[in-house]
Amino acid sequence: MHFDILTLFPGMFKGVFEESIIKRARETGLVSITIHNIRDYATGKHKITDDYPYGGGGGMVMKPEPIFRAVESILGLKEGEKPNVPVILLTPQGRLFSQEVAWELAQHKRIVLICGHYEGVDERVRIHLANDEISIGDYVLTGGEIPAMVIVDAVTRLIPGVLGDPTAVFEDSFTDGLLEYPHYTRPADFRGYKVPEVLLSGNHAAIAQWRREQSLLRTWQRRPDLLKKARLTEADREFLQRLAEGKDSMESRT
Ligand SMILES: C[S@@+](CC[C@H](N)C(=O)[O-])C[C@H]1O[C@@H](n2cnc3c(N)ncnc32)[C@H](O)[C@@H]1O
Repeated sequence: MHFDILTLFPGMFKGVFEESIIKRARETGLVSITIHNIRDYATGKHKITDDYPYGGGGGMVMKPEPIFRAVESILGLKEGEKPNVPVILLTPQGRLFSQEVAWELAQHKRIVLICGHYEGVDERVRIHLANDEISIGDYVLTGGEIPAMVIVDAVTRLIPGVLGDPTAVFEDSFTDGLLEYPHYTRPADFRGYKVPEVLLSGNHAAIAQWRREQSLLRTWQRRPDLLKKARLTEADREFLQRLAEGKDSMESRT
């Protein structure tokens, strides 16, 4: 998977992609990331990349020419030719990023991410260049750099071979529509706070059932909205029914 990130602030990416799992994924060649400075594609003595908004108002708007030139140059496109890979404009007005969207993006071999800044990006980039728009949440950040980091991180860990344990991503929160069960490690007793007995039992079937029920319980308590779309078995539904009727005490299971 190759990510091309277009930004006016390449320095913001220092460190983020040079540590831990992403660093290893880059070193093993599973992932490559190129940070492109949009200013390098601006023309004129002053390499201007933003300008005042037509119609007035505060804030600056990122100019279209350097962004079009950057994407066309990076992808080897002729002027006006449509990109054949995802060219994603990061914007709080885009579709909401989620684990499902991360899985969708992970199927591609190459992704271009355009980071806006200031008041945003000239609308013609959205209409005539980008073929997708993504928001990482209903809040407004100063720029698209952090959203780009979020997307690269979430997508990278789904690429086969990136995580040491290949099954881990299938158990993560949201993958089957539920939040993940809680994790414990040694010591079994820390200041009198004990690890649930079942996890020490060695009984794999009982552990699997406990984890599934914890997953259902957490989702029911914290994100009941997710249950509507989750993949549930008959046993899951019965467990949820018991929770709703108050027959399964939460305390006894946490
Ligand atoms: C200050 S924001 C511009 C917001 C814009 N004026 C609006 O109200 O929609 C500057 C840039 O940050 C990025 N950005 C801000 N919040 C974002 C979010 N929640 N998701 C994705 N990108 C975001 C976008 O690239 C945007 O062009």
